[in-house]
Amino acid sequence: MLNTADNELLTRVESGAPMGDLMRRYWMPVLMSADVESDGAPRRVRILGGNYVVFRDSNGEVGVLDEYCPHRGASLALARNENCALQCLYHGWRVDRHGKVIETPSEPGNSTFKDKIRQIAYPSREAGGLIWAYFGDVSAEPDFPLFEWTTRAPEEIYTIRVAQRCNWAQALEGAIDAAHANFLHNDLMRRLVSGGEYTGGGGLQNMTLSDGAPTLEIENLPYGFQYAALRSAVSDGKPVNYVRTTQFVAPNWALFSAPKGWRFAQAFVPVDDHNTVFYFAHARVDGEPIPEDYRAKILEWSGVGEMDRDFHMDFHTGNMWRQDRDAMSRAKHGDAFSFSGLTGNQTEDLGVQESMGPIYDRTREHLGTSDLAIIRMRRLMLEAARRNERGETPLGLGNNFHYSGIRAAEELVDPSLRWQDVVGSRGEAPIADASSDRGIRL
Ligand code: FES
Ligand SMILES: [Fe+2]
Repeated sequence: MLNTADNELLTRVESGAPMGDLMRRYWMPVLMSADVESDGAPRRVRILGGNYVVFRDSNGEVGVLDEYCPHRGASLALARNENCALQCLYHGWRVDRHGKVIETPSEPGNSTFKDKIRQIAYPSREAGGLIWAYFGDVSAEPDFPLFEWTTRAPEEIYTIRVAQRCNWAQALEGAIDAAHANFLHNDLMRRLVSGGEYTGGGGLQNMTLSDGAPTLEIENLPYGFQYAALRSAVSDGKPVNYVRTTQFVAPNWALFSAPKGWRFAQAFVPVDDHNTVFYFAHARVDGEPIPEDYRAKILEWSGVGEMDRDFHMDFHTGNMWRQDRDAMSRAKHGDAFSFSGLTGNQTEDLGVQESMGPIYDRTREHLGTSDLAIIRMRRLMLEAARRNERGETPLGLGNNFHYSGIRAAEELVDPSLRWQDVVGSRGEAPIADASSDRGIRL
């Protein structure tokens, strides 16, 4: 539970809110690389309450600019994209990806007016199939978050993306919530366990299904925390702990355990106070590509379908997130019933998270022991926002860890060992070889 002031501090990112100021200090995913083509349509992107235009110029380079034309404010998302510049439709001004105004054809030929004007351009990069930008103070640009998967080739990564009509923090809370999968994602869990569709280490998932109330243990780290969900199990007649770890990486990342040779990372990018864009990168780090049919499977599991230009599905409170009450009937469908009546993992998350209201009111909740990680995330992010306001270095910007050394894992661990020593990962120096993935250890 939070008081009203802390709930506001945690959630609000617009109009000079401290959490928005904090978030602007980190690199943010803004689009996928495939969203913009050379000389193709620019894209309008809204992040942290600011409006931007993202485009790929004639040389294939990406530009991230303020959306509105420096002349009289027409949207540059409507602009022509040619000859290495955006040309505003209204009076033909041309702006390049660095924000330089290179032509003002509506002005007299001898005018030097254009040299006095600049459009704000933001540092941008492409990595892991995403376009990233940095919206903070240029003098404080942080190291780029080179997570292990961000250096992989496009054929090794498949990313699901969808917009949510709710605040970023309640969406992130879903990703670090170890207790919800058994219930909300029951349909997919049952299918993966019984059908063996999930490759790699996912077989361990049946242990998740058999115990919905794991013990949680948590460890603070320079970038956030890692926590372990521990479940007692028996393997080959010996007692073991089935351990699944999750990493929270400030300000808006969750890494959770994936099959051997894979990495899963989720980001929750605040669009504004009431909207979020969710990214879920599925990456192979064992040198194998992700085949087309497996991409199709991931998409199907997610339930994500047709979207508008802002990545919204036709899926909201007005149509009860398309919940299928008939499919939920045990009487009619027996074991094939749907627990949620929603169609996939991400649509289930979206449905419940949006159902909490656009900004979830944390003054009225009743947190239990399974909510430990959520409590920790809130505490760390509130503290980070306050530190940032005071001019102190906030969480994850201290340059004292490696993004590439942050991993989540699931393994069977001898109960006499500390899970931190067996499956823990703390952003240590990069591990070059993905084949060093640890197998089951007893
Ligand atoms: S508003 Fe863009 S050129 Fe006039
Ligand atoms: Fe979920």
